[in-house]
Amino acid sequence: MKEKLNAIMEEALRQIKEADVPEKLNEVRIAFLGKKGELTAVLKGMKDVDPKERPQVGQLVNETRARLEEALEEKKRRIDQQRQEEQLRREVIDVTLPAKKNRVGHRHPNTIALEEVERIFIGMGYEVVEGPEIEYDSYNFEKLNIPKNHPARDEQDTFYINDSILLRTQTSPVQARIMEQGKLPIRVIAPGRVFRSDEVDATHSPSFHQIEGLVVDKKITFADLKGTLEVFAKELFGEDTKTKFRPHHFPFTEPSAEVDVSCFKCGGKGCRFCKGEGWIEILGCGMVHPHVLEMCGIDPQEYTGFAFGVGLERIALLKYEIDDMRLLYENDMRFLKQF
Ligand code: DAH
Repeated sequence: MKEKLNAIMEEALRQIKEADVPEKLNEVRIAFLGKKGELTAVLKGMKDVDPKERPQVGQLVNETRARLEEALEEKKRRIDQQRQEEQLRREVIDVTLPAKKNRVGHRHPNTIALEEVERIFIGMGYEVVEGPEIEYDSYNFEKLNIPKNHPARDEQDTFYINDSILLRTQTSPVQARIMEQGKLPIRVIAPGRVFRSDEVDATHSPSFHQIEGLVVDKKITFADLKGTLEVFAKELFGEDTKTKFRPHHFPFTEPSAEVDVSCFKCGGKGCRFCKGEGWIEILGCGMVHPHVLEMCGIDPQEYTGFAFGVGLERIALLKYEIDDMRLLYENDMRFLKQF
């Protein structure tokens, strides 16, 4: 009996040693310790054993069983460990590899220029307001004293949606909208996108941006306008910048002017940048036309005001010495990364 048990144990240990996957190990367990296993068969044969020897044989069977179970358990641990090590080897992460660069975007030159302009006017006590890009003809033209036959109304310049609705061609309609609200005094700038049916070239785009300015109060004079825009030009282009007001015509201001700044590249001597002029035009402005005040519900006897309109792209192009407006819209990373 003892030999038989030893033989079973040896065979079982050999098979356990050979088993290299959990499934095989389980087969070995069933073959020896299962209900129909070899060791179980020995137990079932106990009735044939001499009753005197039974306790001894019983103990032997139990010991054998315990050894086999231990061996099975041990092997199982080893297989599991091997598997885990293999998996770790397979999934290894090389921490010395260079990390992916996290490319953070940054502000567009137009945005940088706008924030600079906003900073200057907020510093002078202005509020930043906005108006709609899709606008009524009445705000874009009528209330700004632009009569029906004015060239600005030409279909070529304006994108009409229908007879009375269009894409605003300027930010000036925001003037009318703010004045109509009737809250006085007014001191606002109104930045935003405007649209004109223009062909794209180095200085034109069917969609660009303007910054409108409007001040309405008692006793506002042209001197206030000049002083304000002089401060603006100096802040934007440098302390030495001079301004020049040239008479001009805008339907909604009277008198009106265009403003040039001395070339900040050559200081006014004339260079390639200012096309030899020494001066660079930056905006249109004037005293709000009394009729415009009236149409917007403000008494021109009591109140006066000034207004101005700056092209944002023009400021960005000048400030960053960009020579083609198209670059601002092409979203070419090589260009944008420079700001
Ligand atoms: N809206 C004008 C344009 O698009 C610019 C302008 C001129 C705005 C004079 C004004 C102004 O507020 O007073 O060309």
